[in-house]
Amino acid sequence: MLTKNDVQDLFQPTTSATGLPAFAYTCEDFAREEQAHLFARTWTCAGYGHEVPNPGDVMPRVVAGVPIVFTRTKSGEVKCFHNICTHRGTVLVASQASGQQALRCRYHGWTFDLDGNLRVTPHWGGHNEPSSDDLDKSCLGLKQVRMHQWHDWLFINVDGKAEPFETYAASFLGHCEEYGLDDATWCRTMPYEISGNWKLVAENYLETLHLNFVHTVLAEVAPFEQHEVIADGPCLGTIIDVGLPDSWVPDDPLPRWPGIGDNNRTAKNLALFPNFKFVIGPDHCCSMVEYAVGAGISHQRWDFYFHGDSATTEKYTDARNSIIDFYDKTNVEDFEAVQAIHEGHKSPAMTGARFNGIWEGGVHHFQKLVAEYMTA
Ligand code: FES
Ligand SMILES: [Fe+2]
Repeated sequence: MLTKNDVQDLFQPTTSATGLPAFAYTCEDFAREEQAHLFARTWTCAGYGHEVPNPGDVMPRVVAGVPIVFTRTKSGEVKCFHNICTHRGTVLVASQASGQQALRCRYHGWTFDLDGNLRVTPHWGGHNEPSSDDLDKSCLGLKQVRMHQWHDWLFINVDGKAEPFETYAASFLGHCEEYGLDDATWCRTMPYEISGNWKLVAENYLETLHLNFVHTVLAEVAPFEQHEVIADGPCLGTIIDVGLPDSWVPDDPLPRWPGIGDNNRTAKNLALFPNFKFVIGPDHCCSMVEYAVGAGISHQRWDFYFHGDSATTEKYTDARNSIIDFYDKTNVEDFEAVQAIHEGHKSPAMTGARFNGIWEGGVHHFQKLVAEYMTA
């Protein structure tokens, strides 16, 4: 749907480029195309290990327009399958559930174990005869979806053709390496609905020029001019040293990530294209994951993590809440801005964004990634 001219204008140097055309943000057909051309071909964050904590837990989702299901197997591993029965294609798991021994199709009773193997095919060989020579069960297991678990986060590649996750995300993982995330303990989930295209939510995250205008409190502790912009393949974001006023530092500070010294005040606002955002500070991290519901509605889900089990005890309730409340307030300010940008993109006068060469290189880079997937 993007023309040669659209792409040519976008792939100019940042200061002379013209951004994606407005219809890329407002058109429902474009949003539908993105599911197959973009989300299905990348590594998309689709779930969390803590959502299926115990063997027998199952969780269905629709990602890139495709029904999938996560299972926690008897051996404790998380697996991801296409959520359709291999008999005649009925959606297998309708809702999240625990304590499942197997997955049983509601249509004709085919039953799969949590590793996806087909186990039972009632009456296939006649009344009360489950087996027949014409059926090779070993070829009819659930179709696996390519998945990679990074700590709590479950990434999937629906079309199965993306480069390995470790290669795709190498730069992103490199930025996270210094933090000992093995004991990251999930604490809280916060869901949001935003009246704006998912790309505008992402682009807003990737630049700090708006800080002084949209987030007056945040701008005090994280001046926008100190942010370093990252734009390296699918890894994007900004890095900053946060100068917290002494009054903000609690008497009993939260445990820090292993290897992160007392003087470390760095906040990394990272993103892994297309839908994963990851803010990490010395003592907490927060993932923000977008799901495009349509051209004009995005769901975003925030999950907060702290270091070790002790960080989620009552002792640190105030310290945790002050971090979470601050993020929440900032978030709402952002969403109001995103909504206004989305409305502006409905105007015929919106003929593509201009980018600042110092602050908005990440936004430009993001739009080029979108264009690459949508035209390849
Ligand atoms: S479609 Fe599932 S058992 Fe027939
Ligand atoms: Fe913001």
